[in-house]
Amino acid sequence: MNGITILGAGGYNPSFAMTNEMLTEFIDTSDEWISSRTGIKTRLMSPDKANYQMAAEAAKAALKSAGKTAEEIDFIIVSTCSPDFYYPNMACLVQKQIGATGCPCIDINTACTGFINALDIARNYLATGDYKTILIVSSERLSSHVDYNDRGSCILFGDGAGAVVVEKGEDKPYYSILGAEGDMFEALYCKANYKPNFPKFDGNEVFNELIDTPEKECYLQMDGKAVYKFAVDAMANAVDKVLQKSGLTIDDIDLVVPHQANIRIIQSALKKMKVADEKVFTNLENHGNTSSACIPVGLSELMESGRLKRGMKICLVGFGAGLTYGACIFEY
Ligand code: UT7
Repeated sequence: MNGITILGAGGYNPSFAMTNEMLTEFIDTSDEWISSRTGIKTRLMSPDKANYQMAAEAAKAALKSAGKTAEEIDFIIVSTCSPDFYYPNMACLVQKQIGATGCPCIDINTACTGFINALDIARNYLATGDYKTILIVSSERLSSHVDYNDRGSCILFGDGAGAVVVEKGEDKPYYSILGAEGDMFEALYCKANYKPNFPKFDGNEVFNELIDTPEKECYLQMDGKAVYKFAVDAMANAVDKVLQKSGLTIDDIDLVVPHQANIRIIQSALKKMKVADEKVFTNLENHGNTSSACIPVGLSELMESGRLKRGMKICLVGFGAGLTYGACIFEY
């Protein structure tokens, strides 16, 4: 089987740290409530860099870590649900920022599951032999979507970017499970901000309905309880299924890197998976939930700290708006 080899990883952490105490200045909440319900103490926010600029910083760090130049990259995949532009896509902007030329550039959006989907796409392109070295960047500036009057959601999210450089891993295992439940989309969404510029004619009421989006819905809308319930089951089931597919057991896995949404979601899902706490990576306390950036930022921190060792079997697992979910197992 041909899996992947992660040659290097890098992250970009925004400069501004919004603490729980700071949130109490403009919403009715407390450090105690947020810490005990979510595990988050601080979320990083980017007042000075657009999403594509954060993505480019993470990409540069990943190239450095991998010992690769931008010219050696022959495919760029960006996962984001908070792009700065409708078009061009973020991957083209990253390509320009890092000085890569000519390679295909695509964006994907499966919200917080984005990195797992992107890795899967990369793995398949690498397996065909069409491309040798792929840059994956997951970057999110959720501060541009969040309504800071909504205490049920604004406490969770932060900004950040993570990137990896991957090549084919000859004879390395790689297994994945991906899925989506589109009928649950209303549990977590943010509508595009159409301007009311559509010419009005008799008979085009459907279009008018699209245009007249209440301003509120152009900010992140979330049914926290519904997402919570979905997340625990979806993560536990995805890990169970990917283990079955691989023929491995949870004891064969050296490290689980889950989407960093809420410590209680992670703990409940892991309890179902029967995985030991010390095998699970978390950093949400200091980053908040940075959607698809959580996992690659985690991988870059794990690499930098020396905790990742060649030969380790890693399990990534996540869920997000869609609602989407996914898990994969690969050898580092
Ligand atoms: O990447 C995926 C992103 N989304 C998620 O992961 C969301 C998953 N869901 C969650 O993490 C949790 O549902 C939340 C942390 C969002 C909320 O926690 P909860 O334990 O489900 O609280 P709740 O919504 O049931 O609210 C309980 C109470 C309510 O008050 P009443 O009606 O009982 O009086 C809320 O109004 O807590 C209140 N509340 C707050 N109180 C203080 C809600 N938000 C806050 C707050 N501070 N920030």
